[in-house]
Parts: sequence; C-alpha cells; structure tokens
Amino acid sequence: MKYQAKLTALSQAAECLIIGVYENSEFSKSFNEIDLATKGYLNGLIQSGELTGKLGQTLLLRDLNGLAAKRILIIGCGKKGELSERQYKQLIQAMLKALKESNIREAVCCLTEVELSHRDLYWNIRFAIETIEHSNYQFDQFKSQKAEPIKLEILIFNTDCSQAQQAIAHAKAIAKGVKAARDIANMPPNVCNPAYLACQAKNLAEKSPALSLEVIDETMMADLGMNAYLAVSRGSTNPAYMSVLHFNNAPNKNTKPIILVGKGLTFDAGGISLKPAADMDEMKYDMGGAASVFGTMKVLAELNLPLNVIGVLAGCENLPDGNAYRPGDILTTMNGLTVEVLNTDAEGRLVLCDTLTYVERFEPELVIDVATLTGACVVALGQHNSGLMSEDEHLVSDLLNAAQQTTDKAWRLPLGEEYQEQLKSPFADLANIGGRWGGASTAGAFLSHFTKKYRWAHLDIAGTAWLQGANKGATGRPVSLLTQFLINQVK
Ligand code: BES
Ligand code: MN
Ligand code: ZN
Repeated sequence: MKYQAKLTALSQAAECLIIGVYENSEFSKSFNEIDLATKGYLNGLIQSGELTGKLGQTLLLRDLNGLAAKRILIIGCGKKGELSERQYKQLIQAMLKALKESNIREAVCCLTEVELSHRDLYWNIRFAIETIEHSNYQFDQFKSQKAEPIKLEILIFNTDCSQAQQAIAHAKAIAKGVKAARDIANMPPNVCNPAYLACQAKNLAEKSPALSLEVIDETMMADLGMNAYLAVSRGSTNPAYMSVLHFNNAPNKNTKPIILVGKGLTFDAGGISLKPAADMDEMKYDMGGAASVFGTMKVLAELNLPLNVIGVLAGCENLPDGNAYRPGDILTTMNGLTVEVLNTDAEGRLVLCDTLTYVERFEPELVIDVATLTGACVVALGQHNSGLMSEDEHLVSDLLNAAQQTTDKAWRLPLGEEYQEQLKSPFADLANIGGRWGGASTAGAFLSHFTKKYRWAHLDIAGTAWLQGANKGATGRPVSLLTQFLINQVK
C-alpha cells in the first residue's frame, strides 16, 4: 500500500474522503466544510441520531449533493480531547475495516485533524500507518487458500505539514521491520532452525551495503570456549549458529557500536527438564528476541541511520536426546565462571551468557539483550509490557522513553545484589536457576555476571513477543521500541 501526504481541497473530486466526527457536538474542520457544502446534510444525520461520533462508529455515504467526492467515510472519534493512543489505533482499525468492505482503492484521510493528547501530527500519521500495516498482516504461506488482499492502494493524508514526510518514511520502514520479525517468528520450527536464522541474516546483509555478516558455527564456538551455549545445543541435531550483523554507518566509522543481542531458541522443548505438552508449540517463538533484532537491523538499513550497530542472533535449539546436557552438569562459560545446571529449561541465560561475553570484543557503547527469557516475567507483567532490567539509570530512562513514545510498552523490574543470593551453588560459581520467586529478576541477575565490561540493559519479552488465542501469532515487538531508541540516539 502507498501513503502520501498532501493538502487536498475537500471540494476536489476523490474516490473517498475520510473525516472524523466527535461526540458532544464538537466538529472537525472538514466536517464543518462538508456540512456546509451539502447544505447541512451531516448535521441532519446527527439530529436524527444516526451519527453519534461514538468511538469507532463508521458511516459510508455516497453521491452527496454538493460534493465532488464520490464517497465520504465518517469515523466516530469519541469525545474531543480525550483520545488515547490505544483508542486512536482502534479508530484506525475501524476505518480500515470500512475501507476494506467497500473495496475502495484510493482515499483522502482527514483524520490528520484528530488530536491525540500530548502528540503531534508526526505521531498521528506514524500510528495510523503502523496500525494499518499491522492489521493487514497475514501469515498464510502455508495455507492453500490465501486471504483476499485489501483493495486499498493509496491513502493520502490531508496535510502539508513538513513532519508528515518523515512520519511516513519512519512508519513504512518500521512496519517493514515488524513484518520481517513476525514472518521469521511465525515460521514453524521445522523450517526456522538456527541455520535458517543465519540464512535470513545473510539475505539481509546482501541487500544493504552498510550491512555485513559474520556467522559463528559450533566449531568456532568450541574454540572460543562458548561451552554454555554449546551445552544447550547438544541435544539437537540442528547445529547452532550465532549470526553477527554489522551495520557500520556512523559518520565516524570507528564510533563504538550499540549492540543488540537476541535470544534465538528456534524451539525450546525444555531439554531433559522437558516442558509439559500443553502449548509447547508456542516455544517456536522462543527466538522472538532474535527476530526483533533482525527486524530492527532491517529498519536501520532501510532508514540508513548514521549509527554503528551490531545485531546478534543467538540461534540454538533446546531438545532432549541421548547427547543432551543434564541437570547436575557443571559448565565452564566463555568468561570462566562455572555454572551448575539445575534445570535444562533455563537455557536462554546459558546461550546468552556466552553471547554477552563474545560481544565484549567489539568494545560496545552499550548492549541491550532481548529475550523471551522467563514465564515469571509474564506472571509479573502480563502481555502488555516487556520487562526492563538494568542498573544504568540513563539507559533505563532512554529505553522507557522510547517505549512510551512508541506505545511498545516496557516496565522496569529490579536487579540487585539481593537476587544473587538465590543463584548460589555449593559446587559451582553460579546455579542456572534461582528458585520459585522473582524469576524474571533472578534471570536478569544471572546475566549481569556476564555484562560487567559495558553499559547493559535486558528486555524480557516473554509476554509481549506473541499473542495466544484467536489472534495468535508473533507481534513483532519490540522492533518499534528498539528502532525508536536508535532514532533518538541520532539526535
Ligand atoms: N523460553 C522459556 C520462557 C518462557 C516460558 C517464555 C513460557 C514464554 C512462556 C525459558 O527458556 C524457560 O523455559 N524458562 C523457565 C525458567 C525456569 C526453569 C527457571 C521458565 O520460565 O519456566
Ligand atoms: Mn526454556
Ligand atoms: Zn527458552
């Protein structure tokens, strides 16, 4: 679908004009203009009670006397001045549904007049495009019967504001990155294994001159001493690959890189500490962190941001077989710390600890890891907020700010020395689990042993990376948050 921004006179011919109407008889500029041109037709609808302006109401009118536009689509915007971001997105979805049902190909959108509290036109347009692209997403490549694509080809935002072009460019690029992340995460685990992740990274790197790829295979991991990572991989016949995507685009090529590390468990059966059967299929999404890092790297390339960023996809599979690692095993990690394995299902932190040690060599400006790490995080925060853990106040504030801006929400959870108590082992430097309580924080506390050499934050996306139920599937989160964080780093 195409998006444009240009100021269009409502008296001009158009296939469809989209205008907003508020509850409590407050009218938008375009509403008043059309009402005047149609000699009070819209007001008549309000008087008769057919048009209320209730949030999400839609009314499609054809061939109104006095209007050159063939149709107008009226969208209820609720009470003026009270529109939240979430309600705005609902209203955009209602608009999309009405456009879809009526097979409209081209529309001029005057919802640019709709005010979001504390938001300017940039966000009005950005949220609209991101919502439309998100709603139009289908993952039907394994279906014989494909869904009918929407007929809408072009949406013109009615504005000449200079911010609009940037909003369109950002939204389109982010929507592409989100789609890419959703596609890889939704891919079934018999297709999407660690080699597949590396292959996707290769394809992406080949498309952009600023991107290059390094792939670390199991032989190289063994040479590097990445024994915790390798232990997790041993139970699977699909070998592990760690893909390292370098985006080197800062004006000064020697600028220290920002590093994004994604947990890439293409399937997590739990290993010998096998998970229960119910919902185990969802563990194909255990590479959601890697998928979001991949999507973010794609946006970076698309927007050509002047930054040095390294994205690492820590691909691996956790299965039980005769060669699998066991509870009781003691592993020597790449940084020398030993870990007693008490549960092979706490594998994410084992893969990540060696990856986090590996990235020291790039002398990072800062490192953010993104991982579907703990069920405990979902218990704590549900499915709306990702868990953010870090002791770097500045980094926390930058990440929470990006989360708030994008509505790709995050909430801070504690780290701290208290949680270290729970990770003590009589036989090794660390245990890989910390008992029943505070599981998201003990996982974070475990990782903190491997991040001492740089500024670091951890995002637990176990609750936000995918949805269950009728709308089940990958969400593409937190591509939007990460991208915004990076866009803000440029300024
Ligand atoms: N990938 C899972 C975390 C997970 C579980 C995400 C359910 C989303 C939904 C992770 O590898 C895991 O299994 N974590 C264990 C850790 C426990 C053994 C300490 C968990 O959360 O149960
Ligand atoms: Mn697990
Ligand atoms: Zn896992």
